[in-house]
Amino acid sequence: MYCLTEEGRRYLEQGLPEKRLVELLKKGKLTMQDAQKMADFSIALLWAKKNGWVAVRGNELNLVKEPKAFPEQDALGKISKGADVEENILSILLSRKLIEEEREDLRRKAEKSVGKEIVNLTEELIKTGLWRKVKFREYNTEVPGKRIHPGKKHIISYYIERIRKIFLDLGFQEASGPLVESSFWNFDALYQPQDHPARDLADTFYMKNPAVAELPDKRIVDEVAKTHENGGITKSSGWGYRWNTINAKRAILRTHTTAVSARMLAQVEPPAKVFCIGRVFRNETIDYKHLPEFTQIEGIVVDENVGFRDLLGYLKEFYIRMGFKKIRFRPSYFPYTEMSVEPEVFFEEKGEWLELGGAGIFRPEVTVPLGIDVPVLAWGLSLERPVMLKLAINDIRNFYYKNDLELLRNINLW
Ligand code: PHE
Repeated sequence: MYCLTEEGRRYLEQGLPEKRLVELLKKGKLTMQDAQKMADFSIALLWAKKNGWVAVRGNELNLVKEPKAFPEQDALGKISKGADVEENILSILLSRKLIEEEREDLRRKAEKSVGKEIVNLTEELIKTGLWRKVKFREYNTEVPGKRIHPGKKHIISYYIERIRKIFLDLGFQEASGPLVESSFWNFDALYQPQDHPARDLADTFYMKNPAVAELPDKRIVDEVAKTHENGGITKSSGWGYRWNTINAKRAILRTHTTAVSARMLAQVEPPAKVFCIGRVFRNETIDYKHLPEFTQIEGIVVDENVGFRDLLGYLKEFYIRMGFKKIRFRPSYFPYTEMSVEPEVFFEEKGEWLELGGAGIFRPEVTVPLGIDVPVLAWGLSLERPVMLKLAINDIRNFYYKNDLELLRNINLW
């Protein structure tokens, strides 16, 4: 059994809003402003339009089809007298919340639940207050939830973002440079002699197209050339060979992001702190440890007040912020730095020290020709290596093309 709700009782007396609107329009069309003055206008318009009775043209409301009857209106009358109405009209009135089930009916339904264990809290239990008397099934918080596999960031992208944030927090500016680079910025500007073995085809990818890259200002090129040949404006004696422009112009895929640092040195005014996280390329045979492309984390600090201890301090701070606890430095060699070190971190999980890249103070043969006469701290670190060890990923190919779904789903980024 059903009875009218408060709204239903009001419409029984005043007429349904859409009925009232139709009656108004029978006297002539209305502007929207005038129509809006009637009570319940938006409800009226909704149902009158739905039934195809009225249409809005511009600012005018017109009666397009005069309804012969208003069955919902009649049904409200019948229900108020306890008479039956058609099923489909009943459900319209229910959904419009113009009628509801009689209290006793609700109570009868709700009472069926008393004494049983209940899973769902229903309308009738709430309305009758009988929810107080039923026993609800308890949640079992021990049951494991359903596993879901939402989209995730690529592991490498995730760490790039974390590392970027560390350097931004330390007051560094971010830089980037081209992947197809000139030998000049990748090698010559870094005081690597033109017959240095790192330049070999065996290590470096030379481009066919474009085969040559642009050189910077002649002023810079000349200084670098003279430095290689005889020390130029630096105090050193140079490498003592004939420097050749053709070699410097060869286009390559950059072999380290130190090329970006060289470009930045020619641009910045000290003091400056710049970092770059980028892809580099080396002609390596692919195996579980090596890929021909990987990611480096590069940084420079250009400041008259810094020295070797600051370099170690920056590196230590970086690795601590990455979550490593023990960091040590081993002496090393790079053609462009003096002193040079290799930072290593201790992997608790394996009980081993792992070498992570290179660092040092740029030699004057690098900085002076590029217009910098203050100390420059520099480093170039591997991104994939520490991530592999921390995440116990034992094959570098997992990052790039193995797409092992199980691994990608289960990995816990730290
Ligand atoms: N470029 C070196 C490498 O790729 C790392 C490095 C950068 C070393 C800057 C010293 C200074 O291994």
